[in-house]
Amino acid sequence: MAEGPRPLRSDEWGQLEELVDSVFRPGMFQQYPQLFCPENQQNLRVIVEDGRVVSHVGMVERPASLLGCRIDVACIGSVATYPAYRGRGFASRLFQDCCDKAAADGVDIMLVSGSRGLYTRVGCRRVGRDLYFLLTAEEAARAHPRFGDEVALRPLDAGWIPSLQALYEQEPVRFLRPREDWEKAFASQVVMARRAEFWGIFAGATLLAYLIVHPPAEMQRTPSDRFLARVVEYAGDRAAIARALLALRTHYQVEAIGIHVLGTDAILRARLEMLGLAGTLVPSWGTLRVINFPGLMERCRPLLAGRLGTAAVRALHFAADSPPGSPTGGFTIQCGPASLRLADLGTLARYLFGDPEGEAVQPEGSPALAADLARALPLPALWYGINYV
Ligand SMILES: CC(C)(COP(=O)(O)OP(=O)(O)OC[C@H]1O[C@@H](n2cnc3c(N)ncnc32)[C@H](O)[C@@H]1OP(=O)(O)O)[C@@H](O)C(=O)NCCC(=O)NCCS
Repeated sequence: MAEGPRPLRSDEWGQLEELVDSVFRPGMFQQYPQLFCPENQQNLRVIVEDGRVVSHVGMVERPASLLGCRIDVACIGSVATYPAYRGRGFASRLFQDCCDKAAADGVDIMLVSGSRGLYTRVGCRRVGRDLYFLLTAEEAARAHPRFGDEVALRPLDAGWIPSLQALYEQEPVRFLRPREDWEKAFASQVVMARRAEFWGIFAGATLLAYLIVHPPAEMQRTPSDRFLARVVEYAGDRAAIARALLALRTHYQVEAIGIHVLGTDAILRARLEMLGLAGTLVPSWGTLRVINFPGLMERCRPLLAGRLGTAAVRALHFAADSPPGSPTGGFTIQCGPASLRLADLGTLARYLFGDPEGEAVQPEGSPALAADLARALPLPALWYGINYV
């Protein structure tokens, strides 16, 4: 008889480590210290059968800022079932259990670091309209030969955490990270599932910006990846970041360096375009599920008011057919007699956070209200960086 879903018990840490190390790779507890730590035990959800932990879905909950609106986010990771126990719905049940716990904890949205059927069947969708830029040898050669000379790249250690935090705090779309997240990232040296290097961009003694980078040695999944390094988090001065990419390409001796730029980051986009780069429209990482639609929209009211005006936003009412965390039911946006309907979670996620394919989601109902809301959306999609699990 299967027991659970339930939180991990204190005497089961060894069993959980065995499960995730055997399904993924050795050292999972060291690579994901935000997830696998005593403070997070209640969010490590397991099913136990034959006297051992056979299936696990883990989650980390963090506050975040969407252009100044505080929301709460759950990040899902290390989803694993032993091969002999697969196909019995264990991971699906654990995933829903996480959604229920997240809802009870006041979470608004969930980020999932994957896109398989397990998630997309229950409303998780790829969202976001971000840009991926590749700086290749060709663009680097076209840049002014002295472009980049005025900034210096230096590797950073954990002693720089207060300065890094200060730069990250100024980012408009970000996690509200506790200091431990930084400390754990430096201790594990793993960011977004691979070994990462931390670079400071300096003008003299002043730290202008930072980059967290997957070096070429980590980018060898396909033969062409070998010639690539990738920036997986940045913060700070955008002009300095553009300059530093040139220096970093030279440092790593790679064919190209890639950087994922948030859709809201018009300045970095412009800086990279000035270098002759053209971005490709890409989704954010993984998939997103809305946990609490009315709660999310209440929290985003100031952002919507900035885009639509106070009176227009005061008149909006947001409702869900089912309680927060539920996988089923549709959603309604009401404004006086006018209303809009979104049929399900998947449609809602793409409607709110943008469809990466560029197909605008058309809600059913009042065309006038739909046109108003089109001016207020999408909401920015969060990027994990060191909060990836
Ligand atoms: C992914 C994994 C955790 C699934 O565990 P599980 O306990 O077998 O999960 P479930 O029984 O709930 O579902 C498994 C499969 O059954 C099938 N299935 C379950 N419900 C289904 C339904 N309603 N309709 C159709 N297929 C269904 C699917 O094939 C599903 O896998 P999918 O995600 O590829 O669509 C397991 O295969 C595993 O450990 N894989 C290796 C690690 C991994 O890839 N983790 C996910 C990282 S994103």
